[in-house]
Amino acid sequence: MSKLFIHGPNHLEGEIAIHGAKNSTLPLMAAALLCESRCVLHNCPNLSDVDTSLKILRHLGCRVTRSGSDVFIDPTDAGNSDIPDLLMREMRSSIIFLGAIIGRMNRATLSFPGGCELGPRPIDLHLSALRKMGVAIDEDHGCLDCSVPEEIRGAGINLSFPSVGATENIMIAASRANGVTMIGNAAREPEIVDLADFLNKCGASIRGAGEGTIVIEGVKHLHGCEHRVIPDRITAATYLAAAAITGSTLTIADVIPGHLAPVIPLFEEAGCKLDVMERKIMISAPKRLNRLKSVRTMPYPGFPTDAQAPVMAMTTLASGTSIFVENIFESRYKHVGELLRLGAGIKVEGRVAVVEGVERLSGAPVEAADLRGGAALVVAGLAAQGDTEITGLKHLDRGYENIEQRLAALGADVRRV
Ligand code: EPZ
Repeated sequence: MSKLFIHGPNHLEGEIAIHGAKNSTLPLMAAALLCESRCVLHNCPNLSDVDTSLKILRHLGCRVTRSGSDVFIDPTDAGNSDIPDLLMREMRSSIIFLGAIIGRMNRATLSFPGGCELGPRPIDLHLSALRKMGVAIDEDHGCLDCSVPEEIRGAGINLSFPSVGATENIMIAASRANGVTMIGNAAREPEIVDLADFLNKCGASIRGAGEGTIVIEGVKHLHGCEHRVIPDRITAATYLAAAAITGSTLTIADVIPGHLAPVIPLFEEAGCKLDVMERKIMISAPKRLNRLKSVRTMPYPGFPTDAQAPVMAMTTLASGTSIFVENIFESRYKHVGELLRLGAGIKVEGRVAVVEGVERLSGAPVEAADLRGGAALVVAGLAAQGDTEITGLKHLDRGYENIEQRLAALGADVRRV
């Protein structure tokens, strides 16, 4: 099992280009299944979740090749409509393929996505929406057996929670449905807009993505297209946190600053100076950060839950007490126990975490329990005195491309063994 070794404290400098967004690449790869000719996705990140999605597409019968950050998907001969349990377990977000498989094959067989490190991952919103669109779904023995007795039809769907995955599954299934679908209280994340842009390039008719109501007019045919995946706003926020905690001046490139609007004010509150340019952000951090009075995770355009762990790590050395409220997932504080091993002063009460800034962190062996929690350990390890050893890298590799090489290129003493 490989480990990351970080010798701290570190100072970072230079410029880092941010890779394509994992949470946009995955739904785009699923949506490609609906096309009747080849799709090309540019700026796809080199991540294990993307590899798993490639395996799923190949299993479904697509011809898939990858060259660097370009992914070529030819769905012409797709014929399977099931995802093997092993692949479902490899990546919980495989549920994002449900709408695409049904939209293409009029049937789908998936095992119920297991829970993950963030707690149970219900899919009730996905299933009730698809049922409204004419999909018959049997749930038994942990398996989802879906069929379309007549046709997939447009429907009026109001989401009780602006679920990202449910919004994506509905958009994808509705693209080739018979009639118009309206999604009320839809998710507004940039990844939703990216998916709508892709589908519209393929001939779909989707309006309102990024706002609360999305209207999809079903069309009969979708053709392939070329599309560049948006940059990963969570990876960008993670590197900003790494620069902030190490008192560094760093430029992050290939970003869309507008996607970081919910995050930038917190780095300014922490005492960092941010110079926002068209596709770059330069951050200059003070020697010691100010505390963050209150960080509440919310659906976009609120503060993103995926940035909670890395930003919490950054506040462990701030002067004063920072308060976090995790409103999206039930148990997204698994990184707290590991941060305590590094000397942080954090107390969790249900959804609230109280971080008392300390003078110093000291290196220790720690283990990542989930993707963003692992990123938090890297952020803290960069500033800790002495050696930090991080295991559980399979989580990190799901969302961060070559993190040790990229940090080492910025001057950090980090290596993977
Ligand atoms: C997406 O997950 C992201 N994953 C997550 O990123 C991200 O944290 C999340 O959106 C919120 O922004 C991908 O895009 C692949 P949700 P998703 O449906 O779609 C509840 C990362 O680290 N819910 O918006 O699963 C659910 O339990 C990952 O990159 C229901 O109750 O998120 C959760 O509490 C982690 N019923 C909340 O909604 C449902 O049917 C948010 O879930 C669906 C969701």
